[in-house]
Amino acid sequence: MRIPLIAICIAFITACSPRQENKETNSPAPPPVEQYRPQIHFTPASGWMNDPNGMFFLDGEYHLFYQHFPDTTVWGPMHWGHAVSKDLVHWERLPIALYPDSLGYIFSGSAVVDTNNTSGFGTKDNPPVVAIFTYHDAKAEREGKNDFQTQGIAYSTDKGRTWKKYDNNPVLKNPNIRDFRDPKVSWIDEAKQWVMTLAVKDHIEFYGSPDLKKWSKLSEFGKTDGDHGGVWECPDLFKLRDETGNTKYVLFVSINPGAPNGGSGTQYFIGGFDGKRFISDTPGKNSGWIDYGPDDYAGVTFANVPATDGRRIFIGWMSNWIYAERVPTTAWRSATTIPRTLSLHKTQNGYVVNSLPVNELDELVSESKTLNAASDIDTLNLVTKEDSLSIPLVIDASVKKSDFVLELRNDRGQKVLVGFDPVANEFYIDRGTGMPSTFHKDFLNRIRAPRIANDDTISFRAVVDVASVELFFDKGSATLTAITFPDEVFNEILMYGKSSGISAGTIQLQQLKPIW
Ligand code: FRU
Repeated sequence: MRIPLIAICIAFITACSPRQENKETNSPAPPPVEQYRPQIHFTPASGWMNDPNGMFFLDGEYHLFYQHFPDTTVWGPMHWGHAVSKDLVHWERLPIALYPDSLGYIFSGSAVVDTNNTSGFGTKDNPPVVAIFTYHDAKAEREGKNDFQTQGIAYSTDKGRTWKKYDNNPVLKNPNIRDFRDPKVSWIDEAKQWVMTLAVKDHIEFYGSPDLKKWSKLSEFGKTDGDHGGVWECPDLFKLRDETGNTKYVLFVSINPGAPNGGSGTQYFIGGFDGKRFISDTPGKNSGWIDYGPDDYAGVTFANVPATDGRRIFIGWMSNWIYAERVPTTAWRSATTIPRTLSLHKTQNGYVVNSLPVNELDELVSESKTLNAASDIDTLNLVTKEDSLSIPLVIDASVKKSDFVLELRNDRGQKVLVGFDPVANEFYIDRGTGMPSTFHKDFLNRIRAPRIANDDTISFRAVVDVASVELFFDKGSATLTAITFPDEVFNEILMYGKSSGISAGTIQLQQLKPIW
């Protein structure tokens, strides 16, 4: 039985005004609105993008670098594209930071602000920013060699605007292993030195350095831990503090393929780091997935966010290797996820990492409406085709634990369904009903995430952009991110239960202003 609980169709004045120069950032006006161009997510103006790289904060600016091939919309010789933001929501596109050279393509990696000038690339008064990345020698790979991935460094003494590669690259040679990449470097107090967390085929290797130039191996982790459905990539290692003040180390490991809903995904481990090795709280298993959806891969966190801010901020690549090169966008391919704040929580089953959109997203709210479920049940008959709801949008709701469904629909009958299955204790999203999906045979498969919280009320926040839905259930303890390609914007939102007895608390709709 399908009992309509709430049907909402609100006419918001569309926020899609013609795009001009962005007055806040003075960045050049992006191309005119193209089909499927995200309105609140970072995208390159043109060309290919995959992983976020080298993210750091310095002097009021968040720097985002990313795997980029400017010449076409499919993967190719990798560069580091570059963008900056003062608020994590509006981005200014900058010139390409790192180009391939005779040592290879510039694969994923990280960047640190070398405050004490340990590298000697700057001065105490003007500390350098040092990027640590993988060189991928495509020619050596074609020749059948195994040692074609090495680690190199580059530095900037003008706050990340321009970069110089180190003369003595590579700084870490390859021990004859084909997958040896994606260095994430940070200063680890317990180690009293820089620590590089490196993905090596089916495990992680940790290396230590006093100066970012000389590296020596500390330990290995993971050959018999966690999921191994694919190669290990793009790790991150950082500390988080829970609400009682306990501190744990969190280790992110992306794997491709082998994610819970197919293709690419990021598992995490929680434990300790004694200065040399990572000791997992759950030997053999991982502690969860940072996102159960198919479209959040290779995500890592910002370096150098000030202690006064205290946040651990994450951005992922909002696509999946199984279809990223075939999705129906034209001038560019891929977007990043909304930046997310990570937090650590102790549950009955051990620690989990929650993620929620950064608060700065609220700056984009242009209109906000709170709907009281009880009174809005009657509005069902008011749904009309002429009313329009403009995207981007945030939907915040809480529902009594039951089999609710949230439906986003457009005038072509294309829809996305989000819901909770109480029998399986799972959240799900069915994306793409009636929309372009032939680029991958499994695109229409139901995507599921286990429920981790066990309260009677389910809360969720949905961040809906032109071509994506990001779902944060139960304060972000279960996250589902999915891209989707409706030909027209969703202009109706319905919420209903499949069994009797479902009730909702308040529902808030926030209309967002486009960032470009
Ligand atoms: C992950 C990844 C990395 C690699 C980069 C190449 O998506 O495969 O392991 O450095 O992409 O673009």
